[in-house]
Amino acid sequence: MQFTTLITDDNTITMFDNAYNEAMHSLSGAYHEAVYMHVIPSQALSRKGDVYVLDIGFGLGYNVLALCAEAVKQKHYGFYTIISLEKNTDIPYAMEHVCFNDERDTIYALLKKSARGEKITTDCFSHSVVYGDARQILSHLPVQFFDAVFHDPFSPAKNPELWTVDFFQKLFTLCKDECIVTTYSAAVHVRTALKKAGFIVGRGPEVGRKKEGTIATKKNTTVLPLDESYFTYLEKDPKALPFTDPELCDTPEEIRKRRKIQMHEFKKGLQVP
Ligand SMILES: C[S@@+](CC[C@H](N)C(=O)[O-])C[C@H]1O[C@@H](n2cnc3c(N)ncnc32)[C@H](O)[C@@H]1O
Repeated sequence: MQFTTLITDDNTITMFDNAYNEAMHSLSGAYHEAVYMHVIPSQALSRKGDVYVLDIGFGLGYNVLALCAEAVKQKHYGFYTIISLEKNTDIPYAMEHVCFNDERDTIYALLKKSARGEKITTDCFSHSVVYGDARQILSHLPVQFFDAVFHDPFSPAKNPELWTVDFFQKLFTLCKDECIVTTYSAAVHVRTALKKAGFIVGRGPEVGRKKEGTIATKKNTTVLPLDESYFTYLEKDPKALPFTDPELCDTPEEIRKRRKIQMHEFKKGLQVP
């Protein structure tokens, strides 16, 4: 059995994925994390008209649910076109165990349908899930298209293929200038990877037990960028060396190994007087 059900502190369910040995959400509140780590910092709720959202790592679909439920609550008059990317085709089975016992269940029932392959459309959003490796799917998505990106894979250590400079470079081409990318990791090598890919990088919020996240954009609007001195300082830190995946097809082991070798060489180089 790949998934084990866990109840988090806000009474919403998450799944522990036994293949990754990691829970899909923070145990301090799965739904809370979706709202405060992704939906609010993405500023998608304050955008008007047609808003295009890319959701990387659909999982249980909480980021999409939180966006749609908050939009309904706030009487948002725009229309969201949401595309989710997901590798694991067992997700629809995991979603069957999720229930909120409140108005969120109405939207969640629609997301269960889209997870099973139906494209769903309502008055305020459309949603589809594309199954496969996000690295390859990105090449088929339109450039300069998205207003917000929820970047929510498993941790960099377990899921390095979605945290590489090369992946972020590809993602960069799909974002509109004012697009905001949200992610929960504040790891220095993740921030370096985003910066090397061309993004302006800022601090994301602290949510639950998680330290601050990271937000990124192409052209600075409302993201307060991390100081240049932060990145200058990191140039001397081997831990800030990012993952790379030049052909966007290496295995997690290959990606981790390449970085380990680079860190080793970097450390040797630093010791040279
Ligand atoms: C932390 S969970 C996502 C939680 C989700 N965003 C939510 O709101 O419920 C990470 C998800 O990323 C998916 N994933 C991991 N590697 C992937 C890849 N290369 N391409 C697409 N999806 C991937 C996993 O199967 C998992 O469902």
